[in-house]
Amino acid sequence: MQDKQSDGQICEDYHRWYYDNKVWQGVEYLGVPCYKSVADMWNYQEILQQLKPGLIVEFGTRFGGSALFFSVTGRAIRDDVKVLSVDICHADVYPAALMDPAIILATCSSAEPGLIARIQKMREQCPGPVFFILDSDHSKAHVLAELALLREVTRSGDYVVVEDGNINGNPVLPGWGEGPWEALAEYQAEYPDDYSQDKDREAKFGFSFAPNGFLIRN
Ligand SMILES: C[S@@+](CC[C@H](N)C(=O)[O-])C[C@H]1O[C@@H](n2cnc3c(N)ncnc32)[C@H](O)[C@@H]1O
Repeated sequence: MQDKQSDGQICEDYHRWYYDNKVWQGVEYLGVPCYKSVADMWNYQEILQQLKPGLIVEFGTRFGGSALFFSVTGRAIRDDVKVLSVDICHADVYPAALMDPAIILATCSSAEPGLIARIQKMREQCPGPVFFILDSDHSKAHVLAELALLREVTRSGDYVVVEDGNINGNPVLPGWGEGPWEALAEYQAEYPDDYSQDKDREAKFGFSFAPNGFLIRN
């Protein structure tokens, strides 16, 4: 039996191996690139099954692999689910995501204030909890702007994942600069009662690209 310290080191080493060798850049979902930890994706599938969201909101579309994953998985759980995927540019989106019946693309910044009314309207059309995932511009300032926007649209029980807090040395890409990890620390210091951290979920598969970023709205 190994002790917890050596378990933690093994997970961190695997995290670094997976990240530094760009394994995540080779991940595909139904043939569409999806820049994620596959362990995180399995966690998202389990969260969706428990949450049964009527709406999934993704910030950062890129090729559309993650939007497609959320749509196909979400529709297997609730056939009326919609996926709103926001990006400043949708030029790279694959046809499979463009043709998906549940994916709606919004081409704008994920800090665009007009998204508040759009998401509120979609909430009315798609009743139930909402699953949000932040995977766009990873700078601290931008993630803080996204979290400020979510304050206006989230409700108790919604699930929010803030991805890529692993950069800037947590434990990958040391020296990247302040990003999601630091944004989350600042946000939680200012609004400590907004979210509960789902630490068991984060720890389930040993490592995550979203450290401190599995959040349930209080
Ligand atoms: C890491 S990629 C998203 C990957 C995708 N979610 C996946 O898992 O495959 C980040 C995306 O964020 C977009 N982006 C950058 N700045 C943004 C902003 N201010 N608002 C919305 N999207 C932005 C980029 O255009 C890029 O497509």
